[in-house]
Amino acid sequence: MSEIKNVDYGLEKIFDGAKDFLPLLGTDYIEFYVGNAKQAAYYYKSAFGFQSYAYKGLETGSGDVVSYVLKQDKIRIVLTTPLNSQSNINDHIVKHGDGVKVIALWVDDATKSWEETTSRGAKSYMEPTTEKDEHGEVVRSGIYTYGETVHVFVERKNYKGVFLPGFEKWESDFNPEPTGLKFIDHMVGNVGWNEMNKWVKFYEDVMGFVNFLSFDDKQITTEYSALMSKVMSNGNGRIKFPINEPAEGKRKSQIEEYLDFYEGPGAQHIAVATDDIITTVGKLRARGIEFLSIPPQEYYDAVPLRLEEHNHELKEDIETLKRLGILIDADEEGYLLQIFTKPVEDRPTLFFEIIQRMGARGFGAGNFKALFEAIEREQEKRGTL
Ligand code: FE2
Repeated sequence: MSEIKNVDYGLEKIFDGAKDFLPLLGTDYIEFYVGNAKQAAYYYKSAFGFQSYAYKGLETGSGDVVSYVLKQDKIRIVLTTPLNSQSNINDHIVKHGDGVKVIALWVDDATKSWEETTSRGAKSYMEPTTEKDEHGEVVRSGIYTYGETVHVFVERKNYKGVFLPGFEKWESDFNPEPTGLKFIDHMVGNVGWNEMNKWVKFYEDVMGFVNFLSFDDKQITTEYSALMSKVMSNGNGRIKFPINEPAEGKRKSQIEEYLDFYEGPGAQHIAVATDDIITTVGKLRARGIEFLSIPPQEYYDAVPLRLEEHNHELKEDIETLKRLGILIDADEEGYLLQIFTKPVEDRPTLFFEIIQRMGARGFGAGNFKALFEAIEREQEKRGTL
C-alpha cells in the first residue's frame, strides 16, 4: 500500500503576511437532501462502505425530518428526508432532485465565522445558534454560497456526543466493510454562464480563500464542448473548492447539462482520497459502483512518457490501472491517480471522484489533454484529423 504524500500547495507564500480571518479546521460534514434517506443510507453503506454513525428520526423525537449520518475515516455524510409535505426541504428535492444542501466546515468559533463572512457580504442562512444536550453544546451558523447550497460553520469544541445534539448513536446489524475512503480532497461547484469569477470573488472576499489554479476553455475542451475552472483554497489548504462554469462549444457542455438537470448551480462532484486506489476501486466496482468508461489503449500507451517528462516513476502496475479504468496525471511535484463515478442519482448531476495523490497537487486537467491527444492520434491514422 502506498502512502498519501503530503502535498505542498505553497499556500503559505500566497498568504504571506495576510491574516486568515476564517480559519477552517476541515470539512465537518456534507448533508444531502434526498427523497428516501433510509434507502440512500443503504446505498452509501453497501456500495461505498460508509459506516452507520448517528441517527435522528421519530424514534429520537424528531417529528419532521429523519437524518442518517454515515462515516468513513474522516468523511461524514448526512442524508436527510422530510417526514411530511410541510417541510421546505421538499422544495429543494422537487427542484433539484437528490443533492448536496450543506457543505459544513469545522471551525473553532462559529459566531465569529458568521460575523466575519456576513460583514463581508455573505447572505445569512443561519444566525449563530447553540444546541445543547447532556453531552455538551454545539454552536452552528451558516451562509449561502452558489445556488441554494450553504456553508454551515460547526463549533464542536464543547461537545462530547456522537454527532450533534438531537442525534443518537446509530447501531446497525448491517455493517459492510469500508472501501478505504479517507477524507474529502476537494469539492466542486458548477455555476452558471459567466458566473465563475463572481463566485471566485465571493470565496476571496467573503471567505478569505485564494485562487491558486485556473484552467481556461482552451485547456479543458473537446471537439464538442468546453468548460472553465478555477480552484479556490482556504489558508491552510484543507478546503479546496474548484468552481466550474460552462464555455461555448459545438454541443452542450457537461456543465450546462448539470445546470439544466439540477435546475441551477450546485455541487458537481465530491473528490474523496484513498491511499490505495487499486484496492478501493476494485471494491467499489465489486459492490456495483459504476464508473465512467475506461479510456482507450492509446491513453495508457501515452502514460509512461507523461510521467517521464516530469521524472516520476509509476509505483502501480499500469495493466491493473488500465483494467480498473484509473486515470493518471502528473505535474512537477508528483503524479495522481483518479477515477470518476457516473452520477449517483437519476438526474445527471452529482458524482464522486476517487483520488490518490502521489505528490501531485493538480486536479487531473492533464487527463483531458492526454485523452484528447490520444484520440487525435487515432484520427490522424484514419486521416480524419
Ligand atoms: Fe475533481
